[in-house]
Amino acid sequence: MNNLQRLQLLKNLYYLKWIGYDFLDNIKIEKNRLNLPNNLEELRKIVMSCHLCRLSKTRKNVVFGEGNPNADLMFVGEGPGATEDETGRPFVGRAGQLLTKMIENVLEIKREDVYIANIVKCRPPNNRVPTEEEAQTCKPFLLKQIEIISPKIIVALGATSYRYLTGDNTPISRIRGETVKFGKIVLIPTYHPSFLLRNPSKKKEVYLDLLKIKRLLCEE
Ligand code: URA
Repeated sequence: MNNLQRLQLLKNLYYLKWIGYDFLDNIKIEKNRLNLPNNLEELRKIVMSCHLCRLSKTRKNVVFGEGNPNADLMFVGEGPGATEDETGRPFVGRAGQLLTKMIENVLEIKREDVYIANIVKCRPPNNRVPTEEEAQTCKPFLLKQIEIISPKIIVALGATSYRYLTGDNTPISRIRGETVKFGKIVLIPTYHPSFLLRNPSKKKEVYLDLLKIKRLLCEE
């Protein structure tokens, strides 16, 4: 059992204590939780009732992710914002509208043909950056989604997504547009659409990154 699994087991035990258990002679329940299913709908059911971190206390809805389960292209953002928390859908607020335009107008792919998910599946209060603990607790769910969908390319949207996906602290301004190995998958970091809303002059760089992604998708 690695450290993350131990941490999750401990959290599950605290949770069970909190809901009234005072004795447990079999910890299979917790182990099974770490044995995540190889099926997106089964995985969704588990994630929807997750209480492994404190974000579950303040969320309105879990934002599991959406799109084509056989997508060649997957986008990973940071975490749900207010509109996403209200609706349970990723990237549907202002940043989401920009992301949808990037996908449909530049890549010329329908939004429903890609898959969109986030590092954490519950909204961090006041849209703060997810903590290391929150990100690491949620990461097995994202890794399982990636494994099931098995995209050719993952686009990490923004510094937080890139850092938590890869563990690499290279500034996003230096690494954006580069192809980074993520197992057998190609990962390309680019600026987050929220950053583009605040810094429209950076759209040009993202446009170039998208052209590269488009080229790579055609080559594969
Ligand atoms: N920002 C993100 O990182 N993810 C969303 O789903 C929405 C906004």
